[in-house]
Amino acid sequence: MNGGGDECGGEGAERNAAEAEARELLELCAVEKKWSIERLEDRLAALGEGTWVADGEELEHGARVAWRNHAKCIGRLFWTSLEVRDRRDVDDPDEVHAALLEHLDAATNGGKVRPIITIFAPADAEGPRVRIWNRQLLGYAGYRQADGTVIGDPANTDFTDQVRALGWSGAGGMFDLLPLVIQRRGEAPRLYAAPVGHALEVPLRHPEFGWFGELGLKWYAVPVIADMVLRAGGVDYPAAPFNGWYMGTEVGRDLADESRYNQLPVIAARTNGGRSSWPPLWKDWALLELNAAVLHSFAAAKVRLVDHHQASVEFLEFAMREGKLGRAVSADWSWIVPPVSGSATPVFHRRWQTLDVRPDYFSQEVAWESFSG
Ligand code: ARG
Repeated sequence: MNGGGDECGGEGAERNAAEAEARELLELCAVEKKWSIERLEDRLAALGEGTWVADGEELEHGARVAWRNHAKCIGRLFWTSLEVRDRRDVDDPDEVHAALLEHLDAATNGGKVRPIITIFAPADAEGPRVRIWNRQLLGYAGYRQADGTVIGDPANTDFTDQVRALGWSGAGGMFDLLPLVIQRRGEAPRLYAAPVGHALEVPLRHPEFGWFGELGLKWYAVPVIADMVLRAGGVDYPAAPFNGWYMGTEVGRDLADESRYNQLPVIAARTNGGRSSWPPLWKDWALLELNAAVLHSFAAAKVRLVDHHQASVEFLEFAMREGKLGRAVSADWSWIVPPVSGSATPVFHRRWQTLDVRPDYFSQEVAWESFSG
């Protein structure tokens, strides 16, 4: 190890790990961005002196490589296209909020969804300086009922309880967009109106079944993950919302999972237990037709979304390109294989290793349980 005495845990070990990650990022940038030796030496010297702060290019590459490294993501072929918005100077909730609305507009792009990350103030020695409480910038409220059932999205019941406690009251419907909550360290969380004018939504219709539209289902166009931490160059960015475009089966699951909108029995009921002539397959039938409706509706609305067959082929292309460049691919089979028709996609028939790599995106503690007000 490099000199520094007999540190064997705690803060010293963390500092060493952070420095090692920073050095790794700089060396990665040097190779992949074709830096001169002088430039690398310059940046390493800054690191050695303790004055290194990622510059724009290092931050951009760090965020992109974090996507490239993320074992659960099937959509990584497009990692170089990630647009990185550097807002590390921002920890004021009002300014964060304004930037989030800009992010939504730019990412939605009238349906031609663009992958974007906006990176706010990094954590310091005391932890996160600012947190976004929402799981995603767009999401639907889940209202707990007295009988234990939920109206809306059960994935958001805890968050919905929180915003109600902060004074929000929703309309009580199935698809009420949630408000945004942003908190700066040491301050009370601030509540902002649901980003209604910034949320493109797609009403779901089926290409053949007219009754499907009567179910009143819809989904939003852009998933912007807001509760994960970007770890790059040994620095944590706890407020760094990012988005790609949807794969159809994700929306299918949001609406079909028993722990979510649980719509398979509803769809099957429309056709006397499902059209399947083989009764045990009623769920399979309903799930397939739901997924058909998602693909059809997003296409009709001209909103970018990828089907699971194409996404699987694109992932193999990504893995092949990485192999050619001599880079190991970290992938989690249970996340990569689509939840519909798994074995009919080529990724099912392959095996990968899940590696401990950085940069990457990680889950972090729920803000309202861990973050000081
Ligand atoms: N599965 C999540 C959802 O259904 C979105 C996760 C991110 N997905 C993506 N395509 N970038 O909302």
